[in-house]
Amino acid sequence: MHPEFIIVKKDAQPHVAHIQLNRPKELNALNLQLMGELRDALKELDADDSTRVIVLSGNDKAFAAGADIKQMAGKTAIDMYNIDQFSTWDTIKKTKKPIIGAVSGFALGGGCELAMLCDMIVASETAKFGQPEIKIGVMPGAGGTQRLTRAVGKALAMEMVLTGKFISAREAQQAGLINRVVPVELFLEEAFRLAAEVAQMSPLAVKMAKEAVLKSFDTTLEEGLHFERKNFYLLFASEDQTEGMQAFVEKRAPVFKGR
Ligand code: CAA
Repeated sequence: MHPEFIIVKKDAQPHVAHIQLNRPKELNALNLQLMGELRDALKELDADDSTRVIVLSGNDKAFAAGADIKQMAGKTAIDMYNIDQFSTWDTIKKTKKPIIGAVSGFALGGGCELAMLCDMIVASETAKFGQPEIKIGVMPGAGGTQRLTRAVGKALAMEMVLTGKFISAREAQQAGLINRVVPVELFLEEAFRLAAEVAQMSPLAVKMAKEAVLKSFDTTLEEGLHFERKNFYLLFASEDQTEGMQAFVEKRAPVFKGR
């Protein structure tokens, strides 16, 4: 079955896949079907040996303007409990390969939270980040109070969550939420450039390094260091470690295979 609300290009670039959120008329509002399609696509690409990095984008006008308010509006608490829409996000969070968010226009509510699930973010100068749920009588529900606070600190996170204020791409970069800002016509190109850079590395080392960086968000320093060390040692079981170090000694470029 072809997805309806996302476009998936497996070999958009060598070893780099592209998922584009595609509900443009609704500013890519994240309804249940779209999130299910995204979860399935990420699962498939994560299991596909030829894919090493995934670029996730919307369009120039919107990365995503949040969870679909119209779909949620009439729901009761028990409906919300039974649908458990954020359980999809738990699966997305488990993606082992790096995801680069290419953000232009609105990244609001669930859209900002989805961008924050990405491992790096390239934004266009027109990008706007915000958690405006407070304006519709609720609050962030997919990580906005936690990931935003860890990324930008309490002062700015509290202001954004309690007032719904949007921040610009430049402010987001200064606050440490995103990696870089480029003109709107270049944001996708720049995301792919970054993806290509990561795709040249050993895919095994990349996955284990991502896992270790993310570990730092939910463990103590001592346990995180222990986890990091285990992954470091484990990589010595890979052909890519032999190749990488041999290539350095022989002063040539390594050829990594992901084994
Ligand atoms: N859900 C459903 N539909 C949405 C939407 C959303 N989150 N955001 C935009 N749309 C729809 C609009 O209803 C409109 O559809 P119609 O043409 O059928 O009326 C279409 O997209 C275009 O939107 P606007 O006409 O409003 O465009 P604008 O340029 O005037 O304003 C905007 C853009 C400021 C982003 C405004 O659309 C807006 O405020 N959107 C809602 C943002 C928001 O509150 N997001 C949080 C949602 S809750 C959430 O995400 C919970 C969570 O933690 C996961």
